[in-house]
Amino acid sequence: MSPGLSFGSGPAQTRGAVSLRRWHVDDDAAVLISGCGDPEVARWMPRMPHPYSDTDAASFMHVAETGWTEGTLAAFAVVGNGEVVGSVSFSVVDPNVPEVHGGYWALAEHRGKGFITAALLMVVDWALSELQVARYELRTDPANTASCAVARNAGFDEEGLIRCAYGRRDGELGELISWSRTMK
Ligand SMILES: CC(C)(COP(=O)(O)OP(=O)(O)OC[C@H]1O[C@@H](n2cnc3c(N)ncnc32)[C@H](O)[C@@H]1OP(=O)(O)O)[C@@H](O)C(=O)NCCC(=O)NCCS
Repeated sequence: MSPGLSFGSGPAQTRGAVSLRRWHVDDDAAVLISGCGDPEVARWMPRMPHPYSDTDAASFMHVAETGWTEGTLAAFAVVGNGEVVGSVSFSVVDPNVPEVHGGYWALAEHRGKGFITAALLMVVDWALSELQVARYELRTDPANTASCAVARNAGFDEEGLIRCAYGRRDGELGELISWSRTMK
């Protein structure tokens, strides 16, 4: 039995000026290196390799390809006004529920334009309605105001604070707010 979900042809492709597509091995290395290598991404996503190399980009695209086939990772390049502006993705953490955990980042020069919120709405709507995902969870550091705003604006409910939730790059343990959208 497959460990994951069946992603089929993916979500609706467009919402206003924003569209989603899968990452392309041949075209996207430079944008991944720039986006994932950004200091704010490194700060709030401490498991992201830093510095971020072309080997990291190639390895991510391989993982994304395998994850799509196995139905365990759905990773999308977010396209705004015709160029890649960031990333929205989720991993299946429990296929029996099914429950997924999501993440996102934006290229610094494209932040604050609503692209990530629009893309997240598309991905979550697809997951809850077409994939019958029961629970879509986000976790944000309370100090990451932009990420908290994205979660709130995309209709996620704030569930509470998880203590000692992750290891920060400075060696301290950080707290995370748990946010969810659920099928009921
Ligand atoms: C979080 C992130 C993806 C948001 O990207 P974005 O392009 O700014 O997202 P959007 O434009 O869709 O929405 C941003 C919202 O945050 C708000 N915001 C941005 N910076 C803010 C700040 N310093 N204080 C308060 N709100 C802020 C914006 O005003 C907007 O909300 P609004 O529409 O209600 O005004 C981007 O900041 C990023 O890449 N951060 C680093 C990586 C990261 O933190 N990822 C998430 C890990 S949980």
